[in-house]
Amino acid sequence: MRTIHSPSAMTAWSQRLRREGVVIGFVPTMGALHEGHRALLRAARLKCDALVVSMFVNPIQFAPTEDLATYPRRLSQDRTICREEGVDVCFEPTPAAMYPKGFQTVVTVPSVARRWEGETRPHHFGGVATVVTKLFGVVRPDVVWFGQKDFQQCAVVRQLVKDLNFNIRLIVRPTVRERDGLAMSSRNAFLSTEERRLAPMLYQALLAAQRAIKTGMADPKTVQAMMRKVLEAQPAIRIDYLAICDPDTLEPLDRIDRQAVILGAIRLGSVRLIDNVLTRRTRGGT
Ligand code: PAF
Repeated sequence: MRTIHSPSAMTAWSQRLRREGVVIGFVPTMGALHEGHRALLRAARLKCDALVVSMFVNPIQFAPTEDLATYPRRLSQDRTICREEGVDVCFEPTPAAMYPKGFQTVVTVPSVARRWEGETRPHHFGGVATVVTKLFGVVRPDVVWFGQKDFQQCAVVRQLVKDLNFNIRLIVRPTVRERDGLAMSSRNAFLSTEERRLAPMLYQALLAAQRAIKTGMADPKTVQAMMRKVLEAQPAIRIDYLAICDPDTLEPLDRIDRQAVILGAIRLGSVRLIDNVLTRRTRGGT
């Protein structure tokens, strides 16, 4: 496995392989790899000839009040995981290499990014879309893998791949969960013992909503009220949002009469958790 720090060296490596007809797979990450990333790497390894992972804690997707300084950084552990999963290149640029003096371009995907995470974290998706666009330009992948846990991020990336004519196939893999259902996330490490005990309730509320919709509940307000009841039973949980939306536009549905995504975000102490499930109604509505 090679470690490459410079964007130009990364592009040179990629271009050489592309000329030889090698299919390049790419998993962008911010490091602090967990089992969810491992699942992405395994899926990717099976589908490409050469696999690149980026590990870059992207400063411009964090607001000044957010956890950029404390975001977990475990490079040597991450490199071991990459080696174990057959990664060919770890791309580890510095912030200065990605955003040199004078850098000014920002990529925005206004409509898909507007609601939900975009409301709570107005900086976030501009930073994500910009770095992902840069990473695609540097790594030049044929196929990229993202995790469903960051559902809105996947929608933003899908839109920018389409709008900017990237000739890249985007594969979204299902969320990997702990045994009790909590979605794997690098930030779970910051939960206290009591917060960790309560954290799976977000997934439980989403599953309850998914079941209700499957059996015919079609009014989003009723479903949301039901989820709220599950979560509000625990005073330590603060709800950021619960939403039932169109999976492509992320606009809220007036009636659940087609496939939907149920999105949720809660806070437990200083930790913010997000999760989602997809659903499709199976019989007549209420
Ligand atoms: O999901 C992440 O880890 C990040 O948002 C990403 C896509 C690597 C961009 O920094």
